[in-house]
Amino acid sequence: MYSEKVMDHFSNPRNVGEIENPSGVGTVGNAKCGDIMRIFLDIDENQIIRDCKFKTFGCGAAVATSSMATEMVMGKSVQEALEVTNVAVMEALDGLPPVKVHCSLLAEEAIHAALWDYAEKNGITIEGLEKPKADINDEE
Ligand code: FES
Repeated sequence: MYSEKVMDHFSNPRNVGEIENPSGVGTVGNAKCGDIMRIFLDIDENQIIRDCKFKTFGCGAAVATSSMATEMVMGKSVQEALEVTNVAVMEALDGLPPVKVHCSLLAEEAIHAALWDYAEKNGITIEGLEKPKADINDEE
């Protein structure tokens, strides 16, 4: 049911933890399943993400997508990080079963929430970034 990459990132998640004094932190939940994800970003003065950590209180697919998403945003500019969508993360993991697609939205939204927090703290605008939802089911 799960690809090898999903199983690998679930069993050996990368970048688990917290960043002290993060440049941005975002927390997003899914009220339907009760799962929560928090992403911490460390962003340098050139707006490049130099570190990214996550904590996910959630299902295996949520853990695997957060792990892959943190790897994908590392080293990117805040603008490029917006291109790390849930679809891009799922493709990098060789797919997810259809019932688990919503889990990958947590990773995308948590990254957006952390970028939003960073932008607000620094009084900047990240083009194309919309105010994130606290719950991914808000608009369903
Ligand atoms: Fe809730 Fe996967 S079932 S995030």
